Amino acid sequence: MNLSTTLAGIPLNSCILNASGPRDTTLEELQALQTSESAAIMMKSCTIDSRPGNPEPRYVEFTGGAQQSMGLPNHGYQAYLEYAQILKETSPKPIVASVSGLSPEDNLHIIQAFQDTPVDAIELNLSCPNIPGKPQTAYDLTATDRLLEQIQSTKPLGLKLPPLLDPALVRDFCSCITQHQVSFVTLINSVGNTLVIDPATDRPIIKPKHGLGGLSGSMIKPIALGNVWMFHEALKDTQIDIIGVGGISFGRDVYDFLLAGATAVQIGTAYQSENIPVFSRLNQELLQVFAEKKIASVDTIRGTLQEYQ
Ligand code: DHB
Repeated sequence: MNLSTTLAGIPLNSCILNASGPRDTTLEELQALQTSESAAIMMKSCTIDSRPGNPEPRYVEFTGGAQQSMGLPNHGYQAYLEYAQILKETSPKPIVASVSGLSPEDNLHIIQAFQDTPVDAIELNLSCPNIPGKPQTAYDLTATDRLLEQIQSTKPLGLKLPPLLDPALVRDFCSCITQHQVSFVTLINSVGNTLVIDPATDRPIIKPKHGLGGLSGSMIKPIALGNVWMFHEALKDTQIDIIGVGGISFGRDVYDFLLAGATAVQIGTAYQSENIPVFSRLNQELLQVFAEKKIASVDTIRGTLQEYQ
């Protein structure tokens, strides 16, 4: 019995890794992930230039979830080219770059720059909800198609997507991406443009974008699972893998995402709140679920969710 999996042709010794965003911006944070039980090192979404991000308060946890509008604070893509080099010198753990350029040209430039580095894959973030004036690209299928048409990557390319809330949207999206060289989709980014009001002050809990920000944590798990299940249906006869993300707090949550069709999962909000020990806890809990159900491997259960007859 083991938790290993293969994502976009890359062997991983567990199906559990960190999500881009929390605690993956600095070299020190990435080195902590390297020695952790996270199966890979996902790096913070990067832009051409370094950014301080949005004004605070910009990340607030509450019962059942968190809301954030970080605004892409990062060190600029050149720092992450260098961090990848440094990380690879000490261990072979897979590294995934997350690219979130502020324009199609920026994305093409950054993806090109990562080609000659030791990163194992690139996750193109088409779903950051937090930059005023920059709509989430994945909600514009024409723009997505045009961008994918121009990308040339020898590294496996994945797309980080926002929730798509209807099977027809999912089918249209999948018809588009199967025309291009996409190796995996990561579902879902935080649910964008939500509003949470603080009863003590009658104000939004975060400052940026009039209080609108991305919702994450256990309350979004059914949305994420629904997206994984819809994409699994649309992609099951293709080579495109699914990474599930959204509200995973326990081993049982990971198991649910595997049943719905995920090949691996990412941990965001729970990693932010529990830090590095979250990965060993979730691996242990998932092993326990596998043992109780006599499951030998991730491969044997992926996408096997049984419906009512
Ligand atoms: C940020 C938030 C996201 O949900 C995302 O995909 C990328 C960046 C942020 O605000 O930094």
